Amino acid sequence: MVKANVLGQLFGLTSVVVGQQVYLAANGSTPRPQCTKCTEGEPQYTFTPFEYSMTSTVRYATSRPSPTTTTTYAAPLESLTSLIGSVSYTTWGKWDPTANATATDAANPYGNAAWTELWRIANPPNFTQEATSSVFSTTVKPTPVPTEELVLPPRDYFGPTDCYNFPPGFEFGVASSASQIEGATAEEGKAPSLMDILIQDDRPKDYVTNENYYYYKQDIERVAAMGVKYFSFSIPWTRILPFALPGTPINQQAIQHYDDVINYIIEKGMAPEVTLLHFDTPLQFYGTIHNVTAVLSNSEIGSTNGGYQNETFPDAYLNYAKIVMAHYADRVPVWYTFNEPLLYSANGKAIDHVIKSHARVSHFYREELKGTGKIALKFNDNFGVPRDPKSEADVYAADHFNSFQLGPFCNPIFLGQDYPESYKMTIPDYVPLSQQDLEYINGTADFLGIDPYTATVIAPPEPGSIDSIKECASNSSAELRPYCVNQTTTDIFGWNIGYRSQSYVYITPTYLRLYLNYLHNTFRTPIVLTEFGFPVFGEADKQNLSDQLFDSPRSVYYLSFMSEVLKAIWEDGVQVIGAFAWSFADNWEFGDYNQHFGIQTVNRTTQERNYKKSFFDLVDFMKARGVD
Ligand SMILES: *[C@@H]1O[C@H](CO)[C@@H](O)[C@H](O)[C@H]1NC(C)=O
Ligand SMILES: *[C@@H]1O[C@H](CO)[C@@H](O)[C@H](O)[C@H]1NC(C)=O
Ligand SMILES: *[C@@H]1O[C@H](CO)[C@@H](O)[C@H](O)[C@H]1NC(C)=O
Ligand SMILES: *[C@@H]1O[C@H](CO)[C@@H](O)[C@H](O)[C@H]1NC(C)=O
Ligand SMILES: *[C@@H]1O[C@H](CO)[C@@H](O)[C@H](O)[C@H]1NC(C)=O
Ligand SMILES: *[C@@H]1O[C@H](CO)[C@@H](O)[C@H](O)[C@H]1NC(C)=O
Ligand SMILES: *[C@@H]1O[C@H](CO)[C@@H](O)[C@H](O)[C@H]1NC(C)=O
Ligand SMILES: *[C@@H]1O[C@H](CO)[C@@H](O)[C@H](O)[C@H]1NC(C)=O
Ligand SMILES: *[C@@H]1O[C@H](CO)[C@@H](O)[C@H](O)[C@H]1NC(C)=O
Ligand SMILES: *[C@@H]1O[C@H](CO)[C@@H](O)[C@H](O)[C@H]1NC(C)=O
Repeated sequence: MVKANVLGQLFGLTSVVVGQQVYLAANGSTPRPQCTKCTEGEPQYTFTPFEYSMTSTVRYATSRPSPTTTTTYAAPLESLTSLIGSVSYTTWGKWDPTANATATDAANPYGNAAWTELWRIANPPNFTQEATSSVFSTTVKPTPVPTEELVLPPRDYFGPTDCYNFPPGFEFGVASSASQIEGATAEEGKAPSLMDILIQDDRPKDYVTNENYYYYKQDIERVAAMGVKYFSFSIPWTRILPFALPGTPINQQAIQHYDDVINYIIEKGMAPEVTLLHFDTPLQFYGTIHNVTAVLSNSEIGSTNGGYQNETFPDAYLNYAKIVMAHYADRVPVWYTFNEPLLYSANGKAIDHVIKSHARVSHFYREELKGTGKIALKFNDNFGVPRDPKSEADVYAADHFNSFQLGPFCNPIFLGQDYPESYKMTIPDYVPLSQQDLEYINGTADFLGIDPYTATVIAPPEPGSIDSIKECASNSSAELRPYCVNQTTTDIFGWNIGYRSQSYVYITPTYLRLYLNYLHNTFRTPIVLTEFGFPVFGEADKQNLSDQLFDSPRSVYYLSFMSEVLKAIWEDGVQVIGAFAWSFADNWEFGDYNQHFGIQTVNRTTQERNYKKSFFDLVDFMKARGVD
């Protein structure tokens, strides 16, 4: 593969919109240029005494060493209290929808009665499951991982043969999100969030998930035992501030909980990375919900209405962020303000609120709190590649697709530039950015976090017609909105673009390398793969644990993706500074457990975790190439 910008010059395209693949016609079998000398003539057959002489190496994963030094990234809470004004702390209990006793503090706007009322209004579907299925109701004491569990599995026969290393300081970690793992949904004062009502159809709504809220020490213990350094997780706003808004009391138990989570990660020799908002918007921003389905689906941009457009959102988000940062910034090296904000942005105002809220938090962190860690966002875009890179219309379509998803955020944040045309032509109610806005927003992220799970093949709605994209963009009832392109998963010959998973993810490593070139050359900032992972097709249907654990397709995914990251770094000059596997264990994937994205299994009856082969393979790949 040649460098992206060379491809661009070859085909007369601009350097940022080079194509997916250019197909060069050839017949016959694959050439073997590495075979400079071939064996010729007849093989010589011989007899020898037979012996069982095969040997193999038994290797063990190496656990994180205990920390010997403490790094701080901000002053401790005691020195920062003036930044969050006068705050109060309190506690609430656990919601039991069948309880007969009513709270007696109805006069207190933030008392137990008011808290219970939040749950009653939210009325989460089938909530009683919560009471019956949990294994744990208090924090579980961790048990060290026995050495026998840390033996590396047999390798896949075909594997990487490169000699590249990762540059010093490359951050390798695992990622997760609260609503997908925590459980304890209505316990220790947590108020309802969007995630508690999101599923309203006939998919099961499970409030138990992985019970990580009580099992976090074991989860951390097991990741540290494998030698992974970075542990990325999200904190739910509705645990910290059940009443969401500025001036409302802080949940003492939640503050204590995440204090313990962060301290335990550090104690185990790892580093915590925190996402402030991962889809779990407090329900307060929706007003009183009468028709949940209508509220959630009311979005002209993202798949879900995340409530960001509410006028009270920006100040409330900043207040929440300040409180969390004041408590934990001394120990947290990396902060993410929003996870995949486009997917939960309902309209132009929502996007405006996201970028300005991010900028305000970033300015607060750097200038007032004087944090020395990093701050960024996690973006979604499964790289759009032109169906035929020699077709001007397909290239235009792919660029439209990619710039629409990234540009509304990344243009102002990384370049100090206005929104892309793809966005402005589609969303007429977008909020214009002034020169002053751009100056305030520009440079407020230290790197670009991307979740590049897979690639998507893109063409205009009508083959060959750029106009058909523009017509769709200006037609508020057009079928293919908001991206106004035809998305498929096959190449121009009809083959799938890669090995298919249980979801939208296909194994597309070479497109990842092209994508990293696109991001680097377009936004000119360091890149972190903040999430990437592969739900092996049919894995949930495998009855035997040992079959689930031998997950070769997932190993192929991770090793091939990381191999292409190395090529992007060393052969293309693309700055990639970290990668986070999604996720450290199978979890709740917004409506089911059938998409196994984990590098560990979770037994849904006992909550027991087991390492999959891919976890060992990925860690071994990284460590063999110099990663701490
Ligand atoms: C490949 O074979 C086909 C069918 O025989 C032929 O038409 C074509 O010209 C060949 N292509 C090349 C590049 O040799
Ligand atoms: C509330 O009262 C009903 C009817 O007496 C009873 O069945 C139920 O168990 C009670 N709930 C609790 C939590 O005690
Ligand atoms: C609620 O429970 C019923 C019965 O178990 C089930 O059929 C339905 O799918 C569940 N609905 C949700 C949204 O979980
Ligand atoms: C916006 O959020 C506030 C809470 O801060 C709520 O009172 C109001 O109803 C919400 N507005 C809408 C339109 O949902
Ligand atoms: C709720 O809204 C949805 C989507 O707009 C609609 O299909 C449904 O009929 C509404 N339900 C009620 C009870 O009004
Ligand atoms: C945005 O900030 C970067 C430095 O962070 C600077 O190089 C660039 O010129 C700024 N862009 C604009 C349009 O001011
Ligand atoms: C807009 O899209 C709708 C739905 O596809 C279609 O019926 C209508 O004709 C389009 N309007 C225009 C002006 O193209
Ligand atoms: C997208 O393109 C494919 C391949 O040309 C075609 O089969 C499909 O019908 C198109 N989809 C839409 C929605 O236009
Ligand atoms: C599970 O594995 C055992 C032992 O290898 C085998 O006997 C059994 O048939 C397997 N079960 C299934 C459902 O594949
Ligand atoms: C989960 O654990 C239960 C109880 O030990 C066991 O019966 C079951 O086979 C386990 N499930 C899997 C998929 O291993």
